[in-house]
Amino acid sequence: MKTFPVIDIKHHSAEIKSIYFKQIEPDIYPGQFFNVWLPGVDEKPFSISDVFQGIMEITVKAVGPFTRALVAVERGDFIGLRGPFGTHFTFHHHALLVGGGMGIVPLRYLARMLRQQGFHFEILLGARCEKEIPFQNDFSEWAPTTFVTEDGSLGYQGQVTEYIHEKIRESKLSFIYSAGPEAMLIRVMEEAKKAGLNYEISFERYMKCGIGICGQCVVNGSGIRLCKEGPVLSRNMAETVTEWGIPHRDATGKRKV
Ligand SMILES: Cc1cc2nc3c(=O)[nH]c(=O)nc-3n(C[C@H](O)[C@H](O)[C@H](O)COP(=O)(O)OP(=O)(O)OC[C@H]3O[C@@H](n4cnc5c(N)ncnc54)[C@H](O)[C@@H]3O)c2cc1C
Ligand code: FES
Repeated sequence: MKTFPVIDIKHHSAEIKSIYFKQIEPDIYPGQFFNVWLPGVDEKPFSISDVFQGIMEITVKAVGPFTRALVAVERGDFIGLRGPFGTHFTFHHHALLVGGGMGIVPLRYLARMLRQQGFHFEILLGARCEKEIPFQNDFSEWAPTTFVTEDGSLGYQGQVTEYIHEKIRESKLSFIYSAGPEAMLIRVMEEAKKAGLNYEISFERYMKCGIGICGQCVVNGSGIRLCKEGPVLSRNMAETVTEWGIPHRDATGKRKV
């Protein structure tokens, strides 16, 4: 584990913040994550939200003790980073990016890469309210983007799941990428299957080592270690998972179901 200085900070809202570092590895792909270590606090996984012109970015939402400590870091603080780890999204034409909540984060870097390489794509993003959707300008600039918020403060009022079917029907798609809450991912997989579309999804399990050794993130049905064979799963791999919505291990690694 090495520590690196924070070179910049950006506040998206009171709870969501981006933290910037010099790019520490040459090859970092959208969908991959870093284990972030705060000395004396803990070490936790975070997706890469961007790599651009030698600067890399993670984006964090304060939800508990570690993330609250992470949003409190300042420029010049040193933070431990291990990574990049895990699988990444692959690039496809005529894709729909479907993101919910903090699942929006890895899709931001994916959108940048798709755009840079000349792929055609559309975006559907949802969250509870406008403040919980970071990078709105980037997404809207890079591709046709539909926003959905539960309180109606941005775009359509409702939930992303209500718009997936319509989007698939009205756009000429050949691929779907998705990251976010599992209820949303389940709906994406159902709709993609009905429409005969291929997809890649990214989902989360409690992680510790991040490198496939401890077994904490193993997923039932498939035996997939989400930190190693995931977090981005192809359709074939996702269809082997049997624990949707009910992680079978708790934070100690003990089997719950
Ligand atoms: C591959 C991956 C990428 C992630 N990317 C981001 C990101 O870009 N931005 C972001 O804000 N969050 C991201 N997370 C979630 C982030 O790791 C958790 O929010 C964070 O660990 C919570 O810690 P806490 O102490 O603040 O909260 P806690 O109160 O400990 O936990 C809050 C929630 O986070 C989950 N969580 C806690 N510890 C872990 C852990 N070690 N591994 C996985 N989940 C955990 C818990 O199950 C719980 O649902 C990602 C998680 C994974 C697995
Ligand atoms: S977190 Fe240890 S095997 Fe995945």
